[in-house]
Amino acid sequence: MMNDPQQQPFPSVALRTDVAHPARVYDVYLGGKDNFPADREAAQKVSETFPTISTTARANRDFLLRAVKQLAGSGVRQFLDIGTGIPTSPAIHEVAQGIDPHARVVYVDNDPMVLVHARALLTSTTALGRTAYVDADLRHPETILNDPQLWEVLDPALPVALILGAILHFLPDDLQPQAIVKQLLAALPRQSYLVLSHVTADFDSQWNEIERLYNAEFDIPLQVRSADEVAHFFTGLELLPPGLTVVSQWQPEGLGRLPSDASVSCVGGVGRMP
Ligand SMILES: C[S@@+](CC[C@H](N)C(=O)[O-])C[C@H]1O[C@@H](n2cnc3c(N)ncnc32)[C@H](O)[C@@H]1O
Repeated sequence: MMNDPQQQPFPSVALRTDVAHPARVYDVYLGGKDNFPADREAAQKVSETFPTISTTARANRDFLLRAVKQLAGSGVRQFLDIGTGIPTSPAIHEVAQGIDPHARVVYVDNDPMVLVHARALLTSTTALGRTAYVDADLRHPETILNDPQLWEVLDPALPVALILGAILHFLPDDLQPQAIVKQLLAALPRQSYLVLSHVTADFDSQWNEIERLYNAEFDIPLQVRSADEVAHFFTGLELLPPGLTVVSQWQPEGLGRLPSDASVSCVGGVGRMP
């Protein structure tokens, strides 16, 4: 059901085609078509600074899908994906329901373009599983946790995999992302999981310039973090093997050669709550 943006305490970001939006710039990196000239110009500036940005985006996306596949394969059937992005194929629910048709997925994003596509592509009730889309903002986690759809779709008695893929770098430290992640995890059932990825300047200092570009030129707050800083999001959780790694090295499939750490510059991991 569509929420009335006027009624929401924190309406999602306005649809502006003249400025870059994180979801649409990421769509450019992934080779998608749901973007505007402002997004393409921003992506072009980033790729002039860091020519393997598409490798970063692809490696991040593939990591999330492998993590979902792994968790669904080990019996997790509920997923809360905050910062969904413009739908790409396969979507999280397609991977999860491909393994267990009972899987349930709640998607959350604050971008109007994601909203439009998600309603068409990501909300469904299959014979066994179910998905829903919540138009809400990670900066206000209570709006996600209080949305009636959340616990209508997810069973509060069963573990949930919270997915925060390439979103936390859009929350600089002054927004207290550590506290937000803690608040979300505290609301989840025991033995839930956290799947998280985050860009870093650990392997290539050009990411400091990308941080500057996003903030100063695209007006999108972005903060790169070191792997040590990203590890703090997993405090109190047990990391699944191989721990927090460059995303391409997290349980890679196949025997193909992996891209260099510098060309990916994104770390991720999967943690399990006690
Ligand atoms: C780089 S994309 C990542 C998409 C997907 N999670 C992935 O990793 O493939 C980041 C997404 O987070 C969303 N996002 C950014 N800030 C957000 C916020 N405060 N609340 C909700 N969504 C947000 C953007 O709209 C975008 O769709």
